[in-house]
Amino acid sequence: MDSALLLLFLWALMGMVSLQSSERCPERLQEQERRKLCPRSCRSDKDCASKRQCLCDGQCGLSCVAPGRTCPWPLPLSETSEVRLLSPSPTFSALLEVRCRPGFTSPSSGSDVTVRRCQGDRQWSGDELICTETRSPERTSARMCSLPTEVTDTFSIHGDTSVGSSIHYSCLSGAGIVGTSENFCQENRTWLFPHPTCKRLFCQPPQEVKQGYVVAVQKAEYEVGFDIHYLCRKNYLLDGPQKITCLSNGSWSASPPHCRARCVIPAERSRVVIGGIKRWPFDITDAVVPHGENVTFFCKHPRKHCSFTAAQTCFDGKLQTPACYLEPTWLQYKLFPHRLVSEIEACEPGDVE
Ligand SMILES: *[C@@H]1O[C@H](CO)[C@@H](O)[C@H](O)[C@H]1NC(C)=O
Ligand SMILES: *[C@@H]1O[C@H](CO)[C@@H](O)[C@H](O)[C@H]1NC(C)=O
Ligand SMILES: *[C@@H]1O[C@H](CO)[C@@H](O)[C@H](O)[C@H]1NC(C)=O
Repeated sequence: MDSALLLLFLWALMGMVSLQSSERCPERLQEQERRKLCPRSCRSDKDCASKRQCLCDGQCGLSCVAPGRTCPWPLPLSETSEVRLLSPSPTFSALLEVRCRPGFTSPSSGSDVTVRRCQGDRQWSGDELICTETRSPERTSARMCSLPTEVTDTFSIHGDTSVGSSIHYSCLSGAGIVGTSENFCQENRTWLFPHPTCKRLFCQPPQEVKQGYVVAVQKAEYEVGFDIHYLCRKNYLLDGPQKITCLSNGSWSASPPHCRARCVIPAERSRVVIGGIKRWPFDITDAVVPHGENVTFFCKHPRKHCSFTAAQTCFDGKLQTPACYLEPTWLQYKLFPHRLVSEIEACEPGDVE
């Protein structure tokens, strides 16, 4: 065994200097463990058939080889190692370097790189270099399945995208999933299943708006992005959005608006303050105020001869007088207009409780 190792070492040394001289070529090994077949042994070219030459063929020693014969090239691609031909062509005696890829090592062979020689039997010398993955953190992080942006834009992804792990999808839009909602990252960094899709959602017709109408074609369902515009009938005020949009989750961007009615001013023989102006209700068109308008009434002080104010807001056709307000009688209004509560002087700030 020792002599075999020595010979091997010697051959390797000679391979490097690529000596072909008969004196330096090792004797043919009797136990051919690595080579199944050695070409015919020789001493000189005369011992060989035509077109063959007596050349040094590694462990086989001087052998009759056809120098034009080639070894398999290119080699099949490997995930764990990379190969490089060190000679111009893969012919007899050409050298091939095999090296473990980054992140892989070959602990069994003791080196992560080996040089193989093209033999007379058209095979590369030596054994395959077995490279195994190095367990390093950066390598593990690289062992992940990727997610395209279309997927991350559509789904919220929970779980781990590394090899051997699984993820769960949920549609960002809130829609249901079409396909499988779970996926697994396989050894070869591909997903087990195709990515799912999200169901297309539609918006249901929104509630009708009383005293209003929509400026759109009425449909049984509305596609995402569809806008509905609202208008109110004459004398009604739009309270809420003028437009609602169908969102990707099948909901409307807002509730439909309301069309609010105007309010009749519940006073006739008293001036009121509307929009900062003190006026008689009959001076106002139709004696109405729009929805949301504030109307300030004049009330009499319970003990003093002065007035104070109390405001009320019109809400969708409803406007009440404040509790303190007393509508003057027709006689009071006709005979003593200047003594009406809305016309007497205002109480001092301290008078009002
Ligand atoms: C990855 O591996 C799976 C299962 O082993 C196989 O079905 C699939 O074809 C492989 N994909 C690629 C791109 O190699
Ligand atoms: C739809 O999406 C909107 C805005 O993102 C959100 O306010 C609403 O609650 C969602 N509706 C449903 C039913 O998920
Ligand atoms: C009415 O009064 C309320 C409360 O003081 C105020 O918030 C609102 O802006 C007023 N409305 C108008 C139309 O002036």
